[in-house]
Amino acid sequence: MKAIDIRNKYLKFFEKNGHKIIPSAPLIPENDPSVLFTTAGMQPLVPYLLGQKHPEGKRLTDYQKCLRTNDIDEVGDNRHLTYFEMLGNWSLGDYFKQESIKMSYEFLTKELGIPSEKISVTCFKGDEDCPKDVETAEAWEKSGIPKERIYFYGKEDNWWIAGEEGPCGPDTEMFYDTGKPKCSEDCQPSCDCGKYVEIWNNVFMEYYKKDGKYTKLEQKNVDTGLGLERMAMLLQNKETPFDTEIFKPVMDKLKELAKNDDISSRRIVAEHLRASIMIVSDGGRPSNIDRGYILRRLIRRMTRHLNKLEIDLNKLPELIDLNIDTLEKLYPELQKNREVIKEVIVTEKDKFMKTLNNGEREFNKVITRLKEKNINKVDSKTIFNLYETYGFPPEVTKDLAIENGFEVNLDEVDKLFKEHQEKSRMGSEHKFKGGLAEQNEKTIAYHTATHLLNAALKEVIGKDSHQRGSNITSERMRFDFNCDHKLTDEEKKKIEDLVNKWIDEDLDVKVEKMKKEDAIKSGAECMFIEKYPDEVTVYTIGDVSKELCGGPHVKHTKELGHFKIVKEEASSQGVRRIKAILEEK
Ligand code: SER
Repeated sequence: MKAIDIRNKYLKFFEKNGHKIIPSAPLIPENDPSVLFTTAGMQPLVPYLLGQKHPEGKRLTDYQKCLRTNDIDEVGDNRHLTYFEMLGNWSLGDYFKQESIKMSYEFLTKELGIPSEKISVTCFKGDEDCPKDVETAEAWEKSGIPKERIYFYGKEDNWWIAGEEGPCGPDTEMFYDTGKPKCSEDCQPSCDCGKYVEIWNNVFMEYYKKDGKYTKLEQKNVDTGLGLERMAMLLQNKETPFDTEIFKPVMDKLKELAKNDDISSRRIVAEHLRASIMIVSDGGRPSNIDRGYILRRLIRRMTRHLNKLEIDLNKLPELIDLNIDTLEKLYPELQKNREVIKEVIVTEKDKFMKTLNNGEREFNKVITRLKEKNINKVDSKTIFNLYETYGFPPEVTKDLAIENGFEVNLDEVDKLFKEHQEKSRMGSEHKFKGGLAEQNEKTIAYHTATHLLNAALKEVIGKDSHQRGSNITSERMRFDFNCDHKLTDEEKKKIEDLVNKWIDEDLDVKVEKMKKEDAIKSGAECMFIEKYPDEVTVYTIGDVSKELCGGPHVKHTKELGHFKIVKEEASSQGVRRIKAILEEK
């Protein structure tokens, strides 16, 4: 079964069971300072998991574009991916364990046709925070999974929380038995040998964890996640996701072009190229910090492995086209972004090649010096200095050093590099909190100020200036927009003055629901049209701003106080960033 068919079956099945299909949120979260990318289907739904009413109701289903970067260096083996798609269904205070398990079992066995005996499940075994999940185990038995295929594990395996704080609860995981022999007497789903592959995770969210303490959520939710690539691989009887139709055309093309074939390099190129395409399509651009840096790293690593494969780098646009053609059925939006995707990735590749050439010269000098002194280790400081001075990426120095027969202490390098990254980035992906969950008066005011700033930029910079990202905390707002020049002091002043004028006019903030088409026709501004369902919420501020937005916002602009730009800087190519604060008046 092809990935697109699995996805369609999934959405239809849950729709038939009373769920509303909602669109995937962009890969790049809006208004969420705590995460770099969307890493799970539940992430954009945090406010609703915490009790806010979802406009589409209590039963939702979607496919979500996700990116996880913790295992970037593992890509190249037979299973790790950075970008993946997660199919999910949610109950927001509606059904719970019994019905969730019944539906999962039916979907796996009837819709996908997986024989029941190939399925094993795991449940939470209980500890001092939460009792053993007997109800879940009984529900599985009732569905048709015998006791001997129901396993119980602790929090390390059967508890789900994103990060240290947030909604959480026991989960139940479904495993597919590949039919491979047991690696030992004791081989179980928790074993990594490859016999059992996790296919679906249903989280029964009934707690909120804060400062190490668990309190009961008022609303009990179900949050499930099924990895699309993995399911496609299993149903197609393939050994790796790279053998499915999602990657195969690109993998084959790389093989054809490579003068020095290497399967691991081909996987890295195919995987990183797909991830980069998805990030750029959702508005990401390479830069030296945060998510821009992740994108930069992906493109660099991909370029390096193209070099290793001895593939002519001029073939890159062709490879991007092929990759987009392969993915188009799953993500039709790629078609309209095709040219900008090519432009961004190819430009970054060119930049990297320059860096690579300069850095390689310096690297060779270092190597010669070390050889003269009979030293066979490149120390981590040198690697770091090559990065700081020549922009030479540590992961590349690391690879080159090893290729030249030198030792490197990877842990030391990682440590230095992490320290550097920590300094320059806003927060790690692991530190998941869900920005909207932290709504308070201040963040709501900043949210409204964002709309005013967006409108002011259109007046001062030009109609073509659009929002490219935003990030709000209780202390400040940050707003990215496309613009081809550094703002002058005069422009900054004009923008500030306009926003403050609108604040002083105490404009009404009006909210209304309308059809997406009508909203667009009425000229409402919107960053990611695909993100929105057919019925949308539109916020209008006086006659200065009209935007599709989930809210919330203040009711009158006077509530904002005084708007002040504290910084204006480049964010990435063609994108500027304004940091601004709201002061008491
Ligand atoms: N949030 C859970 C996961 O990421 C289920 O969707 O696995």
